[in-house]
Amino acid sequence: MRDLSGISALVTGGASGLGLATARALAEAGARVAALDLNVGTSEPGILQLACDVADDASVIAALDAAERAHGSARIVVNCAGIAGSMRLVGRDGPVEMARFERVIRVNLLGTVSVMTKAAARMMTLDPIGPDGERGVIVNTASITAYEGQIGQGAYVASKGAIAAMTIQAAREFAARGVRVLAIAPGLFHTPMAAEVPPEVVDAITSDAIFPRRFGEPEDFADLCLSMIRNPMLNGEVIRLDAGVRLRAR
Ligand SMILES: NC(=O)c1ccc[n+]([C@@H]2O[C@H](COP(=O)([O-])OP(=O)(O)OC[C@H]3O[C@@H](n4cnc5c(N)ncnc54)[C@H](O)[C@@H]3O)[C@@H](O)[C@H]2O)c1
Repeated sequence: MRDLSGISALVTGGASGLGLATARALAEAGARVAALDLNVGTSEPGILQLACDVADDASVIAALDAAERAHGSARIVVNCAGIAGSMRLVGRDGPVEMARFERVIRVNLLGTVSVMTKAAARMMTLDPIGPDGERGVIVNTASITAYEGQIGQGAYVASKGAIAAMTIQAAREFAARGVRVLAIAPGLFHTPMAAEVPPEVVDAITSDAIFPRRFGEPEDFADLCLSMIRNPMLNGEVIRLDAGVRLRAR
């Protein structure tokens, strides 16, 4: 989808961090953007902010309806809503509390699946556009922890690993209807979520990077996301965006 002008786009987690940068970049490229987030942030030019809990089906449907009324059915969906939730599988107090583990899975994995499938079903009813007859594209957010999970990240790793694994599978299912599915696996990015990471872990991750040895900026993520949306040959792929870092155990 090379020309994004006038295209309806949804960004979950669009009130902060990676989602906000992506929503801004899409709006600058001419897309009609709805940001779906638990927090309706401060007003942003060109972005329709909609309150939505991705972990709640009815809330997702209501937000998709509201976005559709304002902008038409979305051809672009970027899933950035997520929570960190650090916990050991077996800690000092014993095995992990399943309700805590489940919460991370519910928001990160089931929230992504809920928005992806509900939006894809609507996308599939749209007219094909462009030389390839594409109907739409979905970009989900995994994490490099999907590949090298660190101690204390079990629930997060499980949620992100599943998002990574589903990328090729969902791309295969949606292909016949002209919908591409992609994912980005970011390293450490400078967002409110990363503020929870202890400084020594930040130092270890940035100093282990190949190059450049710094935090990723949300704009770096947004740039890649827009390139992926625009390039019709990219499908079923998870792209690491991490300056080449491989995570240590802790
Ligand atoms: N920042 C990093 O270093 C990093 C690294 C790898 C992956 N990620 C992933 O990138 C995505 C974006 O993270 P970020 O760093 O921008 O974090 P962030 O905390 O700045 O933004 C996340 C947004 O998601 C929203 N959100 C949380 N739960 C929600 C729910 N149930 N329904 C709707 N919205 C909800 C929050 O309100 C927030 O605005 C997340 O999926 C995260 O796991 C981040």
